[in-house]
Amino acid sequence: MIELMDTNSTRSKKFFRILPKIELHRHLEGSLRLSTMLEIAQSFDLDLPYSDPPFLRQLVQVLPGEPYTYRNFLSKFKTLRLFYRTPEIIHRITQEAIGDAAEDNVRHLEMRFTPVALGVIRQIPAEEIIDIVVTAAEEARKKHQISTSLIVSMNRHESLHLAEKVVRAAVDRRNDGIAGLDLAGDEANFPAAPFADLLGNARKDGLLLTIHAGEWGGAENVVEALQLFKADRIGHGVRVMEDADAVLLAAESGATFEVCPTSNLQSGVCSNLSTHPMKRMMDAGIKVTLNTDDPGVSAIKLTHEYVNAHNVMQLTVGDLRKATLDAAQNAFLNGSDRRHLVNNIGKEFDQKIKILENEKVI
Ligand code: HPA
Ligand code: ZN
Repeated sequence: MIELMDTNSTRSKKFFRILPKIELHRHLEGSLRLSTMLEIAQSFDLDLPYSDPPFLRQLVQVLPGEPYTYRNFLSKFKTLRLFYRTPEIIHRITQEAIGDAAEDNVRHLEMRFTPVALGVIRQIPAEEIIDIVVTAAEEARKKHQISTSLIVSMNRHESLHLAEKVVRAAVDRRNDGIAGLDLAGDEANFPAAPFADLLGNARKDGLLLTIHAGEWGGAENVVEALQLFKADRIGHGVRVMEDADAVLLAAESGATFEVCPTSNLQSGVCSNLSTHPMKRMMDAGIKVTLNTDDPGVSAIKLTHEYVNAHNVMQLTVGDLRKATLDAAQNAFLNGSDRRHLVNNIGKEFDQKIKILENEKVI
């Protein structure tokens, strides 16, 4: 019998690849395939080194030996914005991102996307961008037999005026493909508070809310996201552990934390995965889930995060089962779809554990 609470074992990539997974925190703009970028660069004759894949890689991925700082991490998105050139490209990258998740045995993917970033080159309005992503996601969902929810994101380092237009378009589509809103961007230098009324009103209008907080800013930003924004979920939130009162509040709030360990390492939030706070958050009663954030920028799959969580960060297979079920229970889905997901994912997880045991996959 596979010991779900075993902390001493190390397990293979194959083991975690086979398990059914859920991801609540993945940015479309950070999910592009390098091969697709090379094709786009070539066919649009972009002033980019498209005939030199290693050079392009360095512009869009965090590579070993680079500074692990949030500035370097964010700098990749400046190059990435050059690729969102037409509605057809946005349609394609949405489909590919969902296909890549399905191929990694992600059963439910919540993908967030930033209409301002995706529309910037051709000045495509937010409504149009949202409709393109919704349509592409619907097609990909059927093709790859995966469940998805879409979250519209905005950056706190960009203007409130832009955010207002984006939120209006998202609220108009709350029963038509859009489940929630996200506030992302440069948390170290730009406050969230100016966005509180806008996002609070959208939440009253029926959109769920997740806020990036306690990543590049301190525990006080998690408190702000919970108290001022009434966030349903927190993006990252790992720096909550710097303040004991904030930890108590986070646990009591019942909010779900979308933890992204490799992103945290590469953007300088933690210096080493072996000391990453995810296990301590869980032990303190905070609801945690495991996510990739920007799998293209980090050159990872969700399976990679499961391997590290177990082999490096001391989460047991039982802890990962709980994180997966908490992700299902706090997915931005309607009641019946959520119950369905919780049921199915729990059953499949246990079936796969039995199969892995019979086949002696470690
Ligand atoms: N934090 C804030 N903004 C972002 C991130 C992140 O981890 N990834 C993409 N945009
Ligand atoms: Zn993020």
